[in-house]
Amino acid sequence: MAIDMDVMLAKIKDRQWALADIDWDAPGAEFITDEQRPQLKAFMADLCWIENIGARGFAALAKKAPTPTIAEIYRYFHAEEQRHANAELALMKRWGMLDDGEMPEPNVNIRLAMDWLDRFADGMSLAVLGTVIPMLEVALDGALLKFLLEEVSDPVCHQVFEKINNDESRHLAVDFEVLDMIGNAKTRKLAIDFVGSVASPGLIIGTIMYVPLLNRVRNEIVAMGLKPERLYKAVQRFSTLGERGQHTRRVPTYRVLKRHAGWVTNPRHPYHLVANSMVWMSDRYPKQLLSPIPSWFNELTHEPAA
Ligand SMILES: [Fe+2]
Ligand SMILES: [Fe+2]
Repeated sequence: MAIDMDVMLAKIKDRQWALADIDWDAPGAEFITDEQRPQLKAFMADLCWIENIGARGFAALAKKAPTPTIAEIYRYFHAEEQRHANAELALMKRWGMLDDGEMPEPNVNIRLAMDWLDRFADGMSLAVLGTVIPMLEVALDGALLKFLLEEVSDPVCHQVFEKINNDESRHLAVDFEVLDMIGNAKTRKLAIDFVGSVASPGLIIGTIMYVPLLNRVRNEIVAMGLKPERLYKAVQRFSTLGERGQHTRRVPTYRVLKRHAGWVTNPRHPYHLVANSMVWMSDRYPKQLLSPIPSWFNELTHEPAA
């Protein structure tokens, strides 16, 4: 099922879109009820920040890409994730959730994730980044937006989602193809990469930031009245897509994340006790230890420019 990356790159270039393609004043915004608004606002804020985490992840991947074509693809994906964030900001604006100049607040787990990316992502190997990013994409980026469609009947939201979803399907295709390429490396190289990164503070801290982030999102989904099984299914897709690859199973990081996915998707697993206490602890994380919100975030905009 190998993908021709040159064909993929051409397709990506061909399918670029802009916020200006969407009529943000079209009717339908009134479908959002006052009752929905607070939970939906928190959820949209997270969504928008998760896109930014994805964008930052692709920027790091572009530096590690196995071929120049794939590097170019990752640079497009970086821009696409930022576009998704902007589109979600525009939806929030449309729904009256943002005052002029207001930006959604990232929760503490998102801020920890961004700190991690800024500090460690560029130092991670392709084997680690190339496994972690696909997991983020199946479980959070892309997947979460789908849940919205059940809650929100605004046709503009559905229109935006269709565009984002088409981008995401290409992200996943490339993500899992590269994961399979990684698995095709010599066993010795896989082992060295794995041992080298497992012991690294970057990966340990990364785990500490990822576990509560995922559980916080789960709690938010439940608060919106959705079943947590929806998230579990999204996480499970990581294994389903991974198993399709011929060599993916050989990637040690993949096997670790697959096992983790098994815990996450079993609500009775003691893992959830640990993960939820980590959410609790991160809420008490001293705010002054967090790095300031990165300045590039001010460049994001809901304005429908190209
Ligand atoms: Fe995205
Ligand atoms: Fe994505």
